[in-house]
Amino acid sequence: MDINRIDVAVLGLGGMGKTHVEAAKASPYVGKIYGYEPEHERAVSRGKELEIETTSNLDSILGNPKIKLVYIAAINAVHAELTDKELRAGKAVLCEKPMGETLAEARFMIKAEKDTGNFLQIGFEARYSTLYTTAKAWIDAGLIGRPVNCHCRYYCSEFHKKNTWRSNSSGTLIGEKLSHYLDLQRWFMGDEVDEVFSMNSPNVVDYFNHPDNHQINMRFRNGAVSNLNFIMFIGETDHSDPLLEMIDKQSDDGHHLQYYIFGTKGAIETDVFRRRIRRWEFSDSPEQLVSKIVETIRFPKEEDQTWFHNVHGQNLRIAELVAKGMKPEVSAKNAYETMRVGFAAEISEREKRIVKIAEIC
Ligand SMILES: NC(=O)c1ccc[n+]([C@@H]2O[C@H](COP(=O)([O-])OP(=O)(O)OC[C@H]3O[C@@H](n4cnc5c(N)ncnc54)[C@H](O)[C@@H]3O)[C@@H](O)[C@H]2O)c1
Repeated sequence: MDINRIDVAVLGLGGMGKTHVEAAKASPYVGKIYGYEPEHERAVSRGKELEIETTSNLDSILGNPKIKLVYIAAINAVHAELTDKELRAGKAVLCEKPMGETLAEARFMIKAEKDTGNFLQIGFEARYSTLYTTAKAWIDAGLIGRPVNCHCRYYCSEFHKKNTWRSNSSGTLIGEKLSHYLDLQRWFMGDEVDEVFSMNSPNVVDYFNHPDNHQINMRFRNGAVSNLNFIMFIGETDHSDPLLEMIDKQSDDGHHLQYYIFGTKGAIETDVFRRRIRRWEFSDSPEQLVSKIVETIRFPKEEDQTWFHNVHGQNLRIAELVAKGMKPEVSAKNAYETMRVGFAAEISEREKRIVKIAEIC
């Protein structure tokens, strides 16, 4: 069968840009790969390291009709502007989360997608990760009944460091990190959020330009509730982003990334640092409700990336979708709904009140 190969470009050639380049190299649907960095010297040095042709002239990417798909892996502050330019130049776009740093930027991206009708998907790759696709399949098969309550706790070390774009950013960790985990909660619960109440305590990490901890509570339209609890300073092992390279010591040194999804007939736990997913089944007895663990799946370290951080798998799929002229698997509008929850949480923390999602439009 003939494969329609497309040329692609990766904008922003840092850590995540490298992951995007590697996925493009592995795709049978990708022909030539171009890279872009705004500073000439960095474009040249990253081009050599990644073994691709690079440029510091964005117009050469925008004006090249053979480039059909652009991966945006630049810093968050330029996501909206780059997405707008690329969509209006006729390209399909996979943009890393978050959809900009402000509600106005997220709306700007949605407008560009609506105006052009072009392909835009946001990089919420957790929806391609086996840990979470397994949980979702169990929920959809009715194995826990109706999901009514969901908890996520994510505790990690401080790995954003002093004086980086991440620690200096005025955009919060809710967009930069937690948007993935809010997105999964919407996906698992299968409903839209109605209202949000979020709190944060004074910082431990005083050199962050934003809070280092969040407790985000959500109520869904159907009455289900969920909670996301994030702290960035307890994990003892400081070893870069643990989700990019997880080491065994992190499984019991204060790192946690767990979901508990409670339904009317059972429950699911996903546990990144213990490399497992489990399921409970509830039944009745004359005395009480009875709960039993009926399924446990473990995965080896070698499969970490596909189990909880499957950018590679997501990107292989995106290249295939675009080469075949298909639509995004997860719409930009769906990602925007997750961003609305995040912005509502930011307002709730600032104004110390419950925020209705309907306010964020
Ligand atoms: N999906 C995920 O799980 C995941 C994981 C890590 C990072 N990310 C996202 O990927 C993006 C990049 O993160 P990273 O870890 O690679 O950061 P990084 O600091 O390693 O790389 C950012 C790159 O962007 C470049 N850049 C700066 N201004 C630019 C501009 N105007 N145009 C193009 N490039 C520009 C920088 O020179 C740098 O090479 C961020 O949006 C981040 O949120 C997503």
